[in-house]
Amino acid sequence: MIVIPLKKGIQSIITYLKTNKVILVWIPAYAGMTYFIINMGIKVEASAPGKLMLFGEHAVVYNYPCIVTTVSSRIYVEVEKTSGLLKIDAPQVKNVRFVEETLKLFSQKYKVDNKILVKTYSDFSSQYGFGSSSAVTVATIHALGKLYKIKISKQGIFDLGYKVVLNVQGVGSGFDIASAIYGGTIYFVTGGKKIEPLTVKNLSLVIGYSGVKADTSKLVKNLKPDFKIFDQIKKIVEDVKISLLKSDWKTTGELMNQNHQLLQKLGVSTQKLDKMCEAAITSGALGAKLSGAGGGDCMIALVSKAKKEDVESSIVNAGGEIINVKINV
Ligand code: PMV
Repeated sequence: MIVIPLKKGIQSIITYLKTNKVILVWIPAYAGMTYFIINMGIKVEASAPGKLMLFGEHAVVYNYPCIVTTVSSRIYVEVEKTSGLLKIDAPQVKNVRFVEETLKLFSQKYKVDNKILVKTYSDFSSQYGFGSSSAVTVATIHALGKLYKIKISKQGIFDLGYKVVLNVQGVGSGFDIASAIYGGTIYFVTGGKKIEPLTVKNLSLVIGYSGVKADTSKLVKNLKPDFKIFDQIKKIVEDVKISLLKSDWKTTGELMNQNHQLLQKLGVSTQKLDKMCEAAITSGALGAKLSGAGGGDCMIALVSKAKKEDVESSIVNAGGEIINVKINV
């Protein structure tokens, strides 16, 4: 915030007003002088969580449902008006175009200036596939909404964020954008046709990183859709929606294994992911599958408290890295 005494600063204020759209507040007699407060330099922060795909990946790109949950790792975005050009300082963001596109679409839609200084902070690495791009998109929309005092509904944030994803990546269901907005565990259908929060309690997962960074958009673009497999995945998603709500972990685990087998048939799993899933099951997990586009990134294993450590060790022995984050937050 810049405070300029009227007597001293009138000329500079007029020049400033001509070149910038700023909010001015007139304070009539503070300390015996008239001041203007220029609404500049106010920093506003917002954050959004990362996500973990539970069931239904790939099929969800083709008008099928999926189930996704959030992770406790978040991306933080700080925005500030600047008199200069747009400046982005986002070292942890894999693709800064998500931030640029968000600013562009936001300023077009809400007719506001996009001379903004953007800084991002993150408490997770973009390599795990936890959706840093979608989280940064959602957090930037939240921050800009706060900065310009524009109230935007969840649906409004989704529509804008999904447009950003499509403009930058060309493909995607939007499940990650919805997850970053709604939090917790949601049932989601392509493009936000359905977004249903699910009350899931005591879901206990081990997350294993394969050590390989997946290229989601390449995998999605290269996948030859197999609608017979997608129909089977849909059935799993509908069944697991019920078993998750009932905390029926035995059924949920079996459905997890079935979902993984279908992803193998689609050709998106890797030897490493398969090895990690097998190791998890052999050491007592109730089920295991890859999570996300495949080709690398993470696998998840459903575990009881008693078996958690054994499953973690066996995933490490299979060459994986355990990622310790809370889920369904
Ligand atoms: O790789 P991830 O975790 O971002 O998941 C991609 C999930 C897909 O269904 C393959 C793509 C999408 O946009 O739904």
